[in-house]
Amino acid sequence: MTHDTSSLVSDSDSRFEHLQAAFAERFGEGPGDLVLARAPGRVNLVGGHTDYNDGFVLPATIDRAIYMALRRREDQMVHLRSLDFEEEARYTLPESSFRQLPKWAQYVAGVVEELHVSHGLDSGFEGVLLGDVPLGAGLGSSAALEVAAAEGLKDLFRIEISPQETALLCQTAEHEYVGVQCGVMDQVAVRVGRAGHALSLDCRTLDHEHVPLPLSEANIMIADSRVSRELADSKYNERRSECEKGVAFLRQFDDSVEALGDVDRSLFREHAGEMEEAIRRRCRHVISENERVRESAEALRKGDLAAFGMLMSASHESLRDDYEVSIAELDQLVTTARNTDGVYGARMTGAGFGGCVVCLTADEVIPALQKRLIEQYEKQFGRAPTLYVVEDNLETVTLNQSRA
Ligand code: GLA
Repeated sequence: MTHDTSSLVSDSDSRFEHLQAAFAERFGEGPGDLVLARAPGRVNLVGGHTDYNDGFVLPATIDRAIYMALRRREDQMVHLRSLDFEEEARYTLPESSFRQLPKWAQYVAGVVEELHVSHGLDSGFEGVLLGDVPLGAGLGSSAALEVAAAEGLKDLFRIEISPQETALLCQTAEHEYVGVQCGVMDQVAVRVGRAGHALSLDCRTLDHEHVPLPLSEANIMIADSRVSRELADSKYNERRSECEKGVAFLRQFDDSVEALGDVDRSLFREHAGEMEEAIRRRCRHVISENERVRESAEALRKGDLAAFGMLMSASHESLRDDYEVSIAELDQLVTTARNTDGVYGARMTGAGFGGCVVCLTADEVIPALQKRLIEQYEKQFGRAPTLYVVEDNLETVTLNQSRA
């Protein structure tokens, strides 16, 4: 299952070399296949909090990724080393006490467990990993870690699972073993995202289309507020249950409604007045956001960046006012970006309550935008945001270095 990925990995060569050297140093050269895997982070361009409502999203992968080198062992032991954390995790398959492992290893162990249950891994393995996806910034670091592990192990143990099933397996691992009830967007975006494209994804069916990004005209810039997302998990679950309440209410009038993704504007309008205020606003966000995703994908197909940018900005307002998942820092970054000539649009991205803002901007204004974002943020919040220009959208790849 060695893929022809020569053109896709050149940018990562030095990381793969570093990984291989670190692997050899820790575990020795030895015989057996050495599988290298890479899975990128992602940024969501439009479609906030729609994925767990069986709605639509429009993410793109970024140029930061998690890298892993893996080799089978003769025994049942799993032995991993994180080069970033300078930590090791070691256990015997199958594992039951996940909580004792370092957090990064829990993500991998969840994927291992899911693969073991579904396909029966016939031995343990050893591996090293590293990455440069900012952690906890809402850029898909968890999904990148899960997908890199899943793809690496599939290659190592010659397991055939479709990309969509792999994404679902990774999502289940995160639900069951890490305890985060995330939607499916991140894992699918990371697994099937394509270089130079955004991914228009139906989160119910996982049907998707790769929509070209107009990278010659515009760039994606990410501003990390560096506010840690302490509230994110509890508020995320609260929003999920508010959406469920909205579904239960609307189902009284149309029993085909299984998720907010099934609700159109007319059904909502007809009954909105009878809904509890907070639930009404959450529903209004999801229903209007689903429309925005479809319109954004259409704008992108036509290369209409002005329309696309306006939809991004409308998405932010809806997340801020109706879904109430933004914070002052994110609002300020969005406002500064939008007030800069040459910026098409900006919005918060990820779960909210911290994390990042994504901007779509003309190339030539990037230096001015960077300067303004830093100056104004420092002035108001006393520290600088971290800025990233996405140079490239990486894809998930594996390389099998067979050794006799
Ligand atoms: C987090 C989750 C995703 C999605 C976003 C909000 O990033 O992991 O599944 O729900 O929040 O759009």
